[in-house]
Amino acid sequence: MKILITAGPTREPLDPVRYLTNRSSGKMGYALAQAALEAGHQVTLISGPTALTAPEGVSLIRIETARQMFEAVRDHLASQDVAIFSAAVADYRPAAVAEQKIKKTGDTLTLTLTLEKTEDILGSARSLFGYTGFLVGFAAETQHLLAHAEEKRQRKGCDLLIANDVSQPGIGFDSGENEVTLCLPDAAPIPLPRQTKAALARELLAFISQQATLKTSL
Ligand code: CTP
Repeated sequence: MKILITAGPTREPLDPVRYLTNRSSGKMGYALAQAALEAGHQVTLISGPTALTAPEGVSLIRIETARQMFEAVRDHLASQDVAIFSAAVADYRPAAVAEQKIKKTGDTLTLTLTLEKTEDILGSARSLFGYTGFLVGFAAETQHLLAHAEEKRQRKGCDLLIANDVSQPGIGFDSGENEVTLCLPDAAPIPLPRQTKAALARELLAFISQQATLKTSL
């Protein structure tokens, strides 16, 4: 199968030397790319800035901002059998990027930033790009995990939503392990045990390729 994976954080510039970002390491997305390659799939990895080396054999597209990730997904999505959106895309970016470094002025103690919403890339897959393949989203939540995840799955038109509770110590953002629950249409949520991101990626990939095959044979 042809599989597209988004991974890592995005960086939203504020001026030539500063940006807004988040704590995503990209480990989950890169582990998924590795597992997909090992299973013999053709992988396109669209990645924000990370300290990781991309697995040999992936077609790697490096981006920095949410807008660049949006454009890369838009340009590569149509031909994919499966699309997995594991990137931690910034939800907001500075509304204006200063051309010069922002200086401390006078004796003001605060700086107010105006932010604007970024493109919802996963949310655009069905509605804007007309994608009909198997669509997988992630949801990082700190409360009401299953209710929020199911609402997100439906709103973004996902075949599968992988939910993780980032309020728990030792899992999720920038950690080596993860513990997730799978949300599918018309089925009870499936909790998976806590495990390394590499082991989890193999289990997720096996599940996703089985579900995607099932969907295309219907
Ligand atoms: N996502 C995306 N583009 C965005 C924001 C998120 O593609 N601008 C994707 C993520 O890769 C993930 C899913 O959407 O697969 C969930 O992201 P999240 O930020 O948790 O969902 P939101 O709908 O933005 O809801 P909220 O932040 O309010 O929880």
